[in-house]
Amino acid sequence: MSSPSNASPSAFGPIRSICCIGAGYVGGPTMAVIADRCPGIKVTVVDLNASRIAAWNDPDLSRLPVYEPGLDAVVARCRGRNLSFSTEVSAAIAAADMVFLSVNTPTKLKGVGAGQASDLRWIEASAREVAACAQGHTIVVEKSTLPVRTAETVQAILAAAQRNPSDQSAAAPCTFSVLSNPEFLAEGTAVADLEHPDRVLIGGDDPAAIEALASVYGHWVPAERILRTNLWSSELSKLTANAFLAQRISSINAIGALCEATGADVHEVAHAIGTDSRIGPKFLKAGPGFGGSCFQKDILNLVYLCGHYGLQEVAAYWQAVVELNGWQQHRLARLVVQRLFGTVTGKRIAVFGFAFKADTNDTREAPAIRICQDLLEEGAQLAIYDPKVSSAQMTDDLGQPPQAQGEGVWRAAETPEEAVRQADAVVILTEWASFASLDWSMLVPQMRHPAWLFDTRSVADLAAARAAGLQVWRVGMG
Ligand code: NAD
Ligand code: UDX
Repeated sequence: MSSPSNASPSAFGPIRSICCIGAGYVGGPTMAVIADRCPGIKVTVVDLNASRIAAWNDPDLSRLPVYEPGLDAVVARCRGRNLSFSTEVSAAIAAADMVFLSVNTPTKLKGVGAGQASDLRWIEASAREVAACAQGHTIVVEKSTLPVRTAETVQAILAAAQRNPSDQSAAAPCTFSVLSNPEFLAEGTAVADLEHPDRVLIGGDDPAAIEALASVYGHWVPAERILRTNLWSSELSKLTANAFLAQRISSINAIGALCEATGADVHEVAHAIGTDSRIGPKFLKAGPGFGGSCFQKDILNLVYLCGHYGLQEVAAYWQAVVELNGWQQHRLARLVVQRLFGTVTGKRIAVFGFAFKADTNDTREAPAIRICQDLLEEGAQLAIYDPKVSSAQMTDDLGQPPQAQGEGVWRAAETPEEAVRQADAVVILTEWASFASLDWSMLVPQMRHPAWLFDTRSVADLAAARAAGLQVWRVGMG
């Protein structure tokens, strides 16, 4: 599997042991692919969350804590060979030549910068763990998405623990190099993105450490795709990439609303502009607004940084991308209410899809959360079907337990058929492939009429839905 010809030796000698702190959506899949492609490197993924580690160790691969197409096969190949998952954080750090910090960096909820700045408490805690436990020379790699200049903080924490190799009185010498290596994988395509990345970005000021990390990726990533920058460019490139991608989605959603008002069709507009090679076709799908743990958090972080450096106009520019996204989600909920004769109180609505995108079980910042909450606020009775999201997760996200009857209540449905029974409308909120081939002739007779289909993802077969007797609305279609 590996092609060692791309891997160059470093001043540290080859990396033999990697520890990754954080067994989440990034740490788990990224380390699984590194272990798969580098059979000579021992990879240990550690986390304080014992139930998450237990799930990574579950013999039943369908119960891994992260659902990603192809991930089960990668884990099956390496787990127990050179990939392990453990709660023994200190021991794994001590044994490692290279430690990845892949912990969560959510938006701060209180204190200075609340609602915008990243909460760095988990990064600081893991850097302190490394400082306390590392042995010899350790390369510390920032894998988490971080505000520009966070490496300074990590370096300062590690420097306090650094023991000079020439100091005979000290215990074992202990030194560190800090690198930034942001992750660009998208959920749902994580394994493919990791196996065939557009680029790997390494920022740092220690050439030997940079080459050591480049040689790990060199096992499978072509040399020309491994980019080297200074630390700050690397940290900022990650925030910038996410801001640009999210900005395209807000832009097309803004145009989609104009299409609905004017009779244009946002899919035709997206195709027409996407054929311009300067614009390109990707990330131009109008929908219910972007979700996921990254876009909103990273743009808000960018907004905070711009404000911190006195760039208020730049901050306002990026803030508008997030505001338009929230507006789109509320707009869609309002639109459903308007089409259902101005009230959904006590009406049954089938919601198809709860994950923030297809092929993931992740619901963080999912558009479905805000849209469902708005409909619940209006008194609707929701039956939510998602092939990968559990009822427990929906309870957490919606802030209320399931309830079969009443106003402003929701319950999970096991199948689309169960969800549509006596419903006045179906609202598609995630683009699961199975929603493209729903048998409307079988579903629609179960509904109360007149009945609607609101397709916010443009996945349904509208002709079939119409033929079966539904009135249809699709995002961005005038
Ligand atoms: P996550 O919440 O799924 O996982 C983070 C894990 O770190 C958790 O399991 C938590 O228990 C663990 N953790 C926190 N502090 C710890 C400590 N001191 N010691 C041991 N374990 C600790 O988060 P994620 O989605 O994997 O994201 C991780 C980072 O990667 C974030 O900065 C995120 O912005 C970035 N990122 C995420 C994605 C994505 O698609 N999810 C993509 C690119 C980058
Ligand atoms: C994103 C970045 O793509 C990835 O590079 C980064 O590492 C993490 O953040 P992710 O959030 O996992 O990845 O998925 P992505 O495919 O970017 O989708 C984000 C949201 O935008 C989803 O809700 C998706 O449905 C939405 N989206 C995406 C659209 O509405 N329209 C599009 O054209 C593309």
